[in-house]
Amino acid sequence: MLEIAENGRTWLLSGPLSSYAVHLTGDDELLHLHWGPRIALADAEALAARPLPDHSSFESPLDGREEYPVEGGPRFVRPALSVRTDERRGTEWGFEAYETEGDELRLRFRDAGAAVTLHYRMRDDVVERWVTLDNQGPAPLELLRADSATWTLPDRDGWRLSQLHGRWAAESRLTQSYLTYGEKVIGSRRGHTGHQHLPWVALDTDATEERGEVYGCALGWSGSWRIAVAQLPDARVQITGGAGHDDSGLLRLAAGESFTTPVFAGLWSDGGFGGASRAWHAYQRTYVIPEADRDRPVLFNSWEATHFDISEERQRALARRAAAIGVELFVVDDGWFGARTGERAGLGDWTPNPDRFPAGLKPLADDVHALGMQFGIWVEPEMVNPDSDLYRAHPDWVQYQTGRKRTELRHQLVLNLAREDVQEYLWERLDTLLTSAPIDYVKWDFNRSFTDAGWPGEAYPQRLWVDHVHALYALLDRLRAAHPGVAFESCSGGGGRIDLGIMSRTDQVWTSDNTDPLDRLSIQHGFSQVHPARVMAAWVTDSPNVQLNGRVSSLRFRFVSAMAGVLGVGGDLTRWTEEELAEARDWVGLYKEIRPLVQHGDLYRLRPPQGGLSAVQYVRGDEAVVLACLQAQRYGEPVPALRLRGLDPTASYECRETGEVHRGAVLLHHGLRTGLHGDLDATVIRLRRI
Ligand code: DGJ
Repeated sequence: MLEIAENGRTWLLSGPLSSYAVHLTGDDELLHLHWGPRIALADAEALAARPLPDHSSFESPLDGREEYPVEGGPRFVRPALSVRTDERRGTEWGFEAYETEGDELRLRFRDAGAAVTLHYRMRDDVVERWVTLDNQGPAPLELLRADSATWTLPDRDGWRLSQLHGRWAAESRLTQSYLTYGEKVIGSRRGHTGHQHLPWVALDTDATEERGEVYGCALGWSGSWRIAVAQLPDARVQITGGAGHDDSGLLRLAAGESFTTPVFAGLWSDGGFGGASRAWHAYQRTYVIPEADRDRPVLFNSWEATHFDISEERQRALARRAAAIGVELFVVDDGWFGARTGERAGLGDWTPNPDRFPAGLKPLADDVHALGMQFGIWVEPEMVNPDSDLYRAHPDWVQYQTGRKRTELRHQLVLNLAREDVQEYLWERLDTLLTSAPIDYVKWDFNRSFTDAGWPGEAYPQRLWVDHVHALYALLDRLRAAHPGVAFESCSGGGGRIDLGIMSRTDQVWTSDNTDPLDRLSIQHGFSQVHPARVMAAWVTDSPNVQLNGRVSSLRFRFVSAMAGVLGVGGDLTRWTEEELAEARDWVGLYKEIRPLVQHGDLYRLRPPQGGLSAVQYVRGDEAVVLACLQAQRYGEPVPALRLRGLDPTASYECRETGEVHRGAVLLHHGLRTGLHGDLDATVIRLRRI
């Protein structure tokens, strides 16, 4: 809901539980008023009437209070907008008008030929903010920095920052630290979202999992990005974020050109970290993820089973076993195309390897369909191996700097997707591929970061960083429109490209190349802070773990860990015993029963993975399911009961596993005994209200 003061200078956006208000002063300074619990327009107007504090000649009354600090004038904070023309640097804007369209509010400002529009939209309790910049003047306008938003927090003592940090095979691990004066900057200068940080931060002072105020911000951009959290000299806190990592030049807008920043979304919750996560999840399922109300199938992926050693026969053998355990989607990973028999060759040549698939992919796809499964393939369209037909034909299609070495990582170079000929090549190849065989699913990988991001002949600052992302989005949009039955997974060596931007164009994401079920608990715990289980792909692989650490774990532990997301199987099923296959079939069957709760229900994190016992609970309607994992029982001490959440204290619940009837109040206050013991034990407990 949007309310506007009579004088047209105070705007109040409200969701079911929260409000967000801004105010334009008589001097056209756009000030932040409120972000927090729901308030009335009269409250916002009362806030607007408060005078700005006194200040010395070394301070600015605007700092820490402005909605979108520009560069120039009495401001010393990090500018969200920094522009220059050949004559001037900075912005001195005047307010032009506000507009509304549906639930979107637009505040339009102008500085000479530059039109700056701030956009706001409330989606339930998530505020979406973005900015458009139009160069309406005759001269080029250089955007040194154009952030999507600056978020202002209320005055409080002791802000704590939560972030999700990581690296390859160790993504999205939650870490918390108290803010001190100055700035904390996270981001990626790699050309993709990166494994190092998810573009999300949360700020609180005293929140727990279930209680307290949490402010969260998440960016929808799949290229380089930056979020800066600043505690200013008066202890006020602002969070500024957007595309691009530094301030040295994002884009040059020629006369008549415009740029729209990605969305930076913000959420206030007083339900603690759990409440904030549930609100983020609901927002993404409703507004971001395509067709999120549809179940994601249980998939099998060939990567850990075969690596590059792909043959039609071996894939068929795996497919037969996958079908027998209840898998619904069979995915052939890397190695089916070009001369791709290892990392060194073939990327870029998106036609089936003639030795491995003499009649193309269709015969295998047909067989997979005949087994009752969907068929999927792996691609990595943005890359090329120097040893490929594509590179031999078009060595200038990659990112490179004239006269400099072309840095290879994993023996591959990055295609310059800003080029229209590259875009057309990829569209033609992928469209042909998806037409050539009944393909239902595409795992879209991206296995190296930008290093030599140059486009010889193009003026600086080069559009390549931004246009690569736009071209990727356009390609995905075009493929989705042309092949509406095909689902896409975003992968970047695991979780190197997970953000709200890619999520609005893909159906799920590959969370991490780390398939060790114990490590995964922490990775999933962090991931779940912002993103829902509906997109979080998780595979059961072999024991000892092949990909990473050789850890030995039971099938039970591996399945329970992976069933907390979109379940997949990635082990070499041709080596699994009959007993293991039978057990796997039972787990897959159980997953299908609980899938509606996991993929569409509300998540409650009952205990974090640190320490012995960790558990998550999903609730939907009258049903709940608990997935509990015990890392290690110490000193023979009893494993604690799990206090459940989201139940009706006045109702009774039947445990589907034991037939026992539990009272809701008892489960909520005293907990559920899991029966777990020893090391790496795990269980699934289903409850139904009676
Ligand atoms: C990285 C992915 O994360 C893996 O799952 C696998 O697809 C490999 N790439 C294939 O090269």
